[in-house]
This record gives sequence, C-alpha cells and structure tokens, in this order.
Amino acid sequence: MKIGVYPGSFDPFTVGHHDVLMHAVSLFDQVYVSVLRNVAKNPVFSTQERVDLIRRMVEEEQLSSVKVTYFDGLLVDHCREIGAKYIIRGLRAVTDFEYEFQIGAINRHLSSEVHTVYFMASPEHSFLSSSSVREIGAYGGSIDGLVPECMKNTVAERLRRQ
Ligand code: PNS
Repeated sequence: MKIGVYPGSFDPFTVGHHDVLMHAVSLFDQVYVSVLRNVAKNPVFSTQERVDLIRRMVEEEQLSSVKVTYFDGLLVDHCREIGAKYIIRGLRAVTDFEYEFQIGAINRHLSSEVHTVYFMASPEHSFLSSSSVREIGAYGGSIDGLVPECMKNTVAERLRRQ
C-alpha cells in the first residue's frame, strides 16, 4: 500500500492546499494530512481547530483514503510511525523552491527511505498563502474562494475575532 503524508502548518488550510491534496489522492492509496503542532510559529488556529476544519472537509467530500492527524517533532519520525514512504509538498513559484529543496534534502539525509513528491500549484492558486488569508480575514475582507467553502464561515469568523 502506497502511503503519503501531506504535512504543513495549514494555518488555515487553503484551496491551494486542497488542490495539492487532490493530486495526492489520485496517486496514493492512503494520504495523511498531518498538521504540525508548531508552538514556536504561534499559529492563529490551534492544532485541534486546524485538524477539525480539515477533518470536516474530508468528511464532507467523502475522501475515504484521507486521514487527518497532527504531529510533533521530526517529520521523518512521523513518517516512520504511520508507515509513509512519501512526503507530499506543493510548489507555487520559484520562490518556494529554495526552501523546499532544503527541507527535502534534510529529510532525505535523515531518512533515505522517505522520498518527497512535489506538485505544482494551479496557476490560479500561485498567489495564495495561509498568511494572506489570515491578513485578509483579520481586516474583515472576503476570503471567498481562498479556503474550501465548507470551512469559509468558521475561518472568517475566527480571523475577525482573533
Ligand atoms: O506549511 P509549512 O509550515 O511550510 O510546513 C513545514 C513543515 C511542517 C513541512 C516543516 O516545518 C516540518 O516538517 N517540520 C517538522 C520538523 C522537521 O522535521 N524538521 C526537519 C526538516 S527542516
């Protein structure tokens, strides 16, 4: 069974993340969306909120091969725990490449059994980031079309009152 893990901060999950997830679903038997419990990054959404929002979307879209979880510590250790041999990452633009190249190489150094697979973001999502969603939402702007429809209201309300 081919198991992939799609790790990230997902603070919050965007339609760009959704796009990458759909590519992963078409390639892997099982995909874990694994939320990093990044205390140091001081996320707006708690780990539980991020997990719950993504879980709700996965249930609504009946993505039976997707599991949503969170992890602490090294990603390669999480991969070992869940039996994933592939890390899934999205690339929006050349600017992402340097960072992704670096963490891809570090993960390869830490575990030669784990490979990183990259998906190009659709051109219409190349501008999109969780941080821009947070900023737009914090100022009460519309996040329509930027996050999956099923979580739009919860995310917008949460960002307004942060
Ligand atoms: O969505 P993000 O914040 O770009 O995701 C970054 C993530 C979660 C992939 C990365 O920070 C990570 O894997 N963190 C876990 C710690 C780790 O394994 N570090 C070694 C590689 S730098």
